[in-house]
Amino acid sequence: MATLEAHKHISPDSGYPTVLHPNFNPKIRNWTPTDPIRSEITPPKDRAHFADPAKSRLLSVATATDLTEGIGTLLSGVQLSQLTPDQLDDLALLVAERGVVFLRGQDLDTAGQVKLFSHFGILDKHPAQKNSAHVTIKGSSSDWRQDAAYTPWPQAGWHADTSFEVNPPSYSLLRMEAHPDVGGDTAWVSQYGLFDALSPAYQQLFEGLHAVHTSRLQYDTILDLWGVGPNRPPIDTHHPAVRTHPVTGLKALNVNEGFTTGFAELKRVESDKLLDFANWHIHAADDQLVRWKWEVGSVAMWDNRCTVHRVIPGRYEAGTRRGVRTTVFGEKPFLDPNSESRDEREKRLKKEKEGEDTRNGVNANGNGTDGGPGDANKVNGS
Ligand SMILES: [Fe+2]
Repeated sequence: MATLEAHKHISPDSGYPTVLHPNFNPKIRNWTPTDPIRSEITPPKDRAHFADPAKSRLLSVATATDLTEGIGTLLSGVQLSQLTPDQLDDLALLVAERGVVFLRGQDLDTAGQVKLFSHFGILDKHPAQKNSAHVTIKGSSSDWRQDAAYTPWPQAGWHADTSFEVNPPSYSLLRMEAHPDVGGDTAWVSQYGLFDALSPAYQQLFEGLHAVHTSRLQYDTILDLWGVGPNRPPIDTHHPAVRTHPVTGLKALNVNEGFTTGFAELKRVESDKLLDFANWHIHAADDQLVRWKWEVGSVAMWDNRCTVHRVIPGRYEAGTRRGVRTTVFGEKPFLDPNSESRDEREKRLKKEKEGEDTRNGVNANGNGTDGGPGDANKVNGS
């Protein structure tokens, strides 16, 4: 953070910069992006639509262990590099359902990763990405609680990758090539779970709104902090504040700390307060969170349409953490008013199952309705 222009303009009285990203900053003022703003595209059909609903092609060769109830699954016993196209389709469905899937000890290299990820769609290109196929991810060892004094972009904040795009990314895959022994974990929060955790009144409120996702704050900070020029001009995009996942059909909150600056339909003060709540809601979501400790060769694949993530800032030495990320374009976010939340679906399926069991003469404990000696649930009360 010390390379930020704002560090050169500290008030001796307050200890804070006199201005944040003013026009005096030549790094921002003098930059002209080389590429135009993107137009909307229709990406190829999501590979998860081609999966076996039971994911049998993948799960016959790999062991899946859920790390928390609502998000995150560890997949072991396989090398991604050896998976067939059918198994990759099953993997996409697993990611869409569980939010993020982890693997350790992978033998992929960058070329292999790029080739593998092309299976999932058209490779995205981050505004600051010079190599069109992948982006290098480092980490953060600055004090994120203090960074806001120098830059309005919460660079260590919870985000879905480049959610400001007209076609924000669907899947991302990060593979770690160098990593400190401790520190630099990444955490993910389920946006399915965040929606479920709202009261019905707040669910309705968010469903009626569009969130403004902007690249403007990141644009300035990239120029100032990262020392590279963004390829495209900054944009502000209005996306539904609650979106429907095109594969699972589930509702997910579509607001994040990193790129959302407000709500299009609200007055400024209403918008600020609601955004403040939404950011708190994400930070308070330890029941919807999974935290991953990296090793060299570890991989995480996640779905940006139903999760947000952030690297947990640490004190490790700069340059000791390096990962390669590949990302593919997703659909333009939409809200299907007839879609259901994850909780609603679970309840509906449970009810349907109970109805079926009743018709088949099985009670809710999974036993025969005559309650004979096999009714173990009556004994095991705890
Ligand atoms: Fe990210």
